[in-house]
Amino acid sequence: MHILDAVFLMSNTKVEGCPDPIFKEVAFIGRSNVGKSSLINMLVNKKGLAKTSSTPGKTQTINHFEVKVKHGKNWYLVDLPGYGYAKKSKSSRKDWQSMIKHYLEERENLTCTFVLIDLRHEAQKIDIEFMERLLKDGIPMAIVFTKADKLKDQAAVKAFEQYESVLKSKWGDTPNLFISSAESQLGKDRLLQFISTIV
Ligand code: GTP
Ligand code: MG
Repeated sequence: MHILDAVFLMSNTKVEGCPDPIFKEVAFIGRSNVGKSSLINMLVNKKGLAKTSSTPGKTQTINHFEVKVKHGKNWYLVDLPGYGYAKKSKSSRKDWQSMIKHYLEERENLTCTFVLIDLRHEAQKIDIEFMERLLKDGIPMAIVFTKADKLKDQAAVKAFEQYESVLKSKWGDTPNLFISSAESQLGKDRLLQFISTIV
């Protein structure tokens, strides 16, 4: 896929306000600070497009970007706020849940939700539960392991295989799995290739 440009469209707290679903879209979600916004910038080759921060909880709204493609249909890319942010109050956690639930269930043009997981961490309950919710609700999903550059090659492969075996033992199978690094651009081509088949 040849991406010409990517532009920010709008931020929303309600699915009703999201752009008209004239293009297919893919969304990125996962724990706070896992690297969602960084991955998005890496994919579209535009540093600073999605706002990143070393402080968890940076992204708080549903953020739509339009990706402009040469010889093909444009698509929407969506940066979602993360979960598992310790400092969040109970009520803002509830607001997050309700916003995300409505978005995921009602966004008719959503063709894949990428759940991001830090490759350095073992399988965590919060991620597994979130993914099981998606599976149960029939929401198309894939997993992207992030920050692979923070591990040596061998350790990265080991961490990946370990996670894969946890999923296989739980689910019998795994969704599509990707390894990425926003630093080294690892995974970029494979992810874009996959996205080109669903948008
Ligand atoms: P929230 O919006 O707060 O939920 O965070 P996020 O998931 O969007 O994470 P963000 O992209 O803002 O990145 C969080 C921190 O991790 C930043 O300091 C990034 O520079 C760093 N980071 C993200 N991806 C990578 C990566 O692939 N490699 C390395 N080394 N650091 C990364
Ligand atoms: Mg973010």
